[in-house]
Amino acid sequence: MFGISSYILIPLIIWLLWQIYVRTVDKKYSHIPGPKPSFLGLAELYVYLQGSFLGLSNKYGHYGPVIRVFIGPFVWIMIMDYPSYVSLYHNTRSFSKLGTVQRAAVHIVPGSLFITEGPEWRRHRTSMNPFFANEELGKYISAIFDIVREEHDALESDKPFALSVWSNAVTGRVIMKTLFDVNVNKKNPQEVKEFEEATNYMGDWFGFYMISYCICPPFAKSKYWQDYINKRKEPFTRIVNQSLRNADPDCFWHQLIQSGKLSWEEFQNEAVTLMLAGYETTRDTLCWVLHSLTKYPEVKSKLKNEISTVLNGRTPTPEDLKNLKYLDKVVLETMRLHDIILVGSRTPIQQDKIGDYLIPKDSTILFSPHYVVKNSVDHPDEFDPERFTEDNYKELSKRALSAFGTGPHQCIGKYLAMLELKLITIYLIQNGEFEIDLKTDQINPHYPIKTPRKMSAIKKSV
Ligand code: HEM
Repeated sequence: MFGISSYILIPLIIWLLWQIYVRTVDKKYSHIPGPKPSFLGLAELYVYLQGSFLGLSNKYGHYGPVIRVFIGPFVWIMIMDYPSYVSLYHNTRSFSKLGTVQRAAVHIVPGSLFITEGPEWRRHRTSMNPFFANEELGKYISAIFDIVREEHDALESDKPFALSVWSNAVTGRVIMKTLFDVNVNKKNPQEVKEFEEATNYMGDWFGFYMISYCICPPFAKSKYWQDYINKRKEPFTRIVNQSLRNADPDCFWHQLIQSGKLSWEEFQNEAVTLMLAGYETTRDTLCWVLHSLTKYPEVKSKLKNEISTVLNGRTPTPEDLKNLKYLDKVVLETMRLHDIILVGSRTPIQQDKIGDYLIPKDSTILFSPHYVVKNSVDHPDEFDPERFTEDNYKELSKRALSAFGTGPHQCIGKYLAMLELKLITIYLIQNGEFEIDLKTDQINPHYPIKTPRKMSAIKKSV
């Protein structure tokens, strides 16, 4: 039926249609630099499949601060430098945070901070902000120290263990305690089992759900998926609800609900959001802090000196934390070099500019915070806490902290995460350090955020 001429004709027609399509679509974006679209966008798709957003950023970053890339037939606008990243985050009037990720999340945490915009988002955010204020968090210092002590005591000295599993337990328990006043008691195996069931790999099933949503939205909305999500959320919400029922009526969340600022249902969705957003992110960053201390013994030794001079073996006060300036630099430098957020997105709700470039309404804007934050300084691949000097501290710390986003939608848990990272580091330096087996940290340049899962460590005897 198909003669030899069809083998020539069909590809020719596809090629012609592609040329027409590219010329039409690219007209809208041709003022934005980027690689010349390959046939069917296959070359760019190949780069993406090999290295996701980071692969694209590394390969095409030299085109400029704002670039356009074809991925198959779709055009993405990617933000590549720090000033454009800041401008995108701050311009909430034109660039909405609601995109594919949030559309998927509607089915998991409806009505929460993560997926709302405008007055609805503002109501949630302003009512929850006081809980996360830096000045408020000092009261959690001893509770966080107790959790680290318990988890640290449970480890045998000089025996290798999986660092991410240990960090998972610590950061999970810290969030449960600080946010919901849930004590996961290590001595009660049933409680630990229930907690693990409720929280293990939340990010994984969330990520998996989102991919399924992108590929096939109707399937993602199916009863099968909804039942699965409810099953995963159930033990967590049950634990949190139980705790809130038994909590002091003056506690923050009770007051919020009683005053009508958040409904009971909204609180439940916010609780899942906070857990999804706040626990594995901090776990992986903690692995990177500890990794840096093994990899750079001179940094560890300087940090040890500072901690022993300022604290002399005692638990820090909020005032002490302000005086631990080198610790601050070590954590900031880790945030800068190892930001674990690989991709972010925005949707232009009206045409506006980023730098010199006009961004058409309804385009897809994507960026890799990891790439932008890391490359926001000179010699970006060097781990160098000393780069923060008195003169540049304000500017450089702002850049490092933009790993938490910036502007109105920046991370609500940024100070809590910083506090956790600092306290856990102090405890370990004071009470027996960890050494990471550097053979287990083989960094995949395209998926560096996966690396912490492979790290193995040893608790050194004191
Ligand atoms: C190292 C740890 C963390 C990193 C790197 C991180 C990073 C981020 C980033 C980049 C955003 C902005 C996303 C966007 O709009 O594109 C964000 C938002 C958010 N984060 Fe974090 N985060 C961390 C820890 C936490 C913690 C501990 C919590 C809470 C307990 C938390 C809760 C949230 C919430 C609720 C949002 C949405 C805020 C809003 O839209 O108003 N995060 N985070």
